[in-house]
Amino acid sequence: MDNGKAKLAIIMAGLPARGKSYLSLRLHRYLEWQGYRARIFNVGAYRRESLGPPSSKSDFFDPKEPVFARERERIAKRCFSDLAEWLGGAGDIAIYDATNVTASRRAYLEKECGKHGFEHVFVENVCDDPEIIEKIIRIKLEHSADYAGFAPEAARADFARRLGHYEGVYEPVSDVAHMKIINFGLSVVRAYGDERPFLDEIADFLGAVNLMDKEVFLTRHGETYFNCEDRIGGDSPLTKRGAGYAGRLAAHFKGRDLVVFTSAKRRTIETAAFFDCERVVLPELNEINSGLCDGLSYAEIAEGRPEVNEARSNDKFNFRYPGGESYRDLIQRVKKSVIRIEAEKRDVLVIAHRAVNRCLVSYFIPTPPEEVPYIEMPLDRIIRVYRLNAHYGCDWKVI
Ligand code: SIN
Repeated sequence: MDNGKAKLAIIMAGLPARGKSYLSLRLHRYLEWQGYRARIFNVGAYRRESLGPPSSKSDFFDPKEPVFARERERIAKRCFSDLAEWLGGAGDIAIYDATNVTASRRAYLEKECGKHGFEHVFVENVCDDPEIIEKIIRIKLEHSADYAGFAPEAARADFARRLGHYEGVYEPVSDVAHMKIINFGLSVVRAYGDERPFLDEIADFLGAVNLMDKEVFLTRHGETYFNCEDRIGGDSPLTKRGAGYAGRLAAHFKGRDLVVFTSAKRRTIETAAFFDCERVVLPELNEINSGLCDGLSYAEIAEGRPEVNEARSNDKFNFRYPGGESYRDLIQRVKKSVIRIEAEKRDVLVIAHRAVNRCLVSYFIPTPPEEVPYIEMPLDRIIRVYRLNAHYGCDWKVI
């Protein structure tokens, strides 16, 4: 796995209710989708597992209570030690999800990373927008295991005390290599040195994620002349039937606050022609490059290039068309559009292609790589991807 730097620890930092767990989950999905062995190590979960409900109360976070302070350190270290064991073994990228608000804790983590030879970067979530903070607090109080069984007002008051304890010891990150995500993508500070393209990608992704409850729709272009002949690739225009679909599609979305992303191919641009909202052409959404097979029908490939057919059916995810791309390659190309989709605050309609849409669906809905090339993706259908609930925004469903 080439992330530019093998064995990377991404260490979250920031006050409670700044969205660390939310960003950790989104980043984890983005990395796992690309094939990295990624795992989140959440100190709060370790605490609950080890000490149970009493540790959920705000007293436990009081810095003036030495017994609790020692317990917090012990648990944070145990969690990091498990991280180190996993990352030193099978893992590629570990996300350490904890507040890490003091310079002394960060110095410890830096030392540990150095000892194990892990590349590392701190990611601080900084948030001073009261609306965003309030939204995160609401999600937290509703869904965190810490507040299960609490009356809503008691939970809110206890959380405010916990926050106060952290604010009392908070030292903003400036001491270590880091990025800061300010108010969910308002701006991103990069302070980890130059020439770190993989960290730039992570910063781009984290800077794009926001808390909007937007919906994402995916569809293929309308029918083309190539579709009628069962040919792949090319740049064929729509048939009359395909143009009919384009008209119906625009009518379906009329009145919605929407942006439409298409590929640079004629068939997707023609399918978007009847929309009166913003339309953006993203070449990274172009269909899988079928190389020497571009323009051929499946029957012609079977006849003229039986070895291609055989290799493709043996391992469709990794199969690369001669002179073209594989699904695995395609994910590396399409990921740029995932960052665009994440960054949007409006609903998004992607009008693209069969293989591209399969890759996109598998980002939203975790899908084993070998199943990605078989996700059903017929013409004339819309796939709706939406949040099932507000719990860190990470449940999605395709209908
Ligand atoms: C927690 O125990 O919930 C978080 C611990 C921390 O990182 O401060």
